[in-house]
Amino acid sequence: MDKLFQILPPVPDVLEPRPHRCRTCAVVGNSVNLKGSHYGPLIDFHDIVIRMNRGRTTGYEADVGTKTTHHVFYPESATSLANTTHLLFFPFKISDFLWLLNKLDPDREDSAVNSKRIANKDLVMILNPAFMRYVHDAWLGQRGYYPSTGFLTFALSLLICDEVNVFGFGADSDGNWNHYYEQHKYKDLKTGAHPGTFEYQTIEKLHKRQMIEFFKGW
Ligand code: C5P
Repeated sequence: MDKLFQILPPVPDVLEPRPHRCRTCAVVGNSVNLKGSHYGPLIDFHDIVIRMNRGRTTGYEADVGTKTTHHVFYPESATSLANTTHLLFFPFKISDFLWLLNKLDPDREDSAVNSKRIANKDLVMILNPAFMRYVHDAWLGQRGYYPSTGFLTFALSLLICDEVNVFGFGADSDGNWNHYYEQHKYKDLKTGAHPGTFEYQTIEKLHKRQMIEFFKGW
């Protein structure tokens, strides 16, 4: 742990709130409802664009945009990020910390595990695992096994953004969390271990109260 936190910036690169500026954020989930949405330019218009896991832009620019200022991933869903993209890392097991240390440790530059650079170490931000517990307890009433990546990111965005606009959330007509960039092989996956319906309704509720905007896609 100590070693990892020596490598990372001591203070996360989060813009502080100021009365004269509005930090606009697009939280972009991976729902299939982005397909054909033409949200690309609208998403790119935000100061902060947060994508997650295997969410990608190449080939889908018209619907999802091109800009990624922040990307959330886990060791299991890691991709190689651009040098200007912040990695938002949500560890929830010890091996996640070890994995990140192996990837970023300059002393291990030539090790096999480090052969592919995953992120600019100066732009890595680690979320305290206690936040996952908080979201599960306070936002989801402990429904499901744990919050989805998308919902965690959404809850975080309410803290680091002044204006939150949500894209790419919502199951397909069979209730599955299908992605815009692939066809699900499993027809009965639904929303996995996550309380997908409740998460969706919570975002909808905040939208109805005009606290956020929820773009439901196509
Ligand atoms: O599937 P993945 O976890 O990579 O997708 C990122 C997030 O987008 C999910 O955690 C979920 O919150 C949201 N999502 C969704 N509806 C889908 C697919 C993903 O709400 N059809």
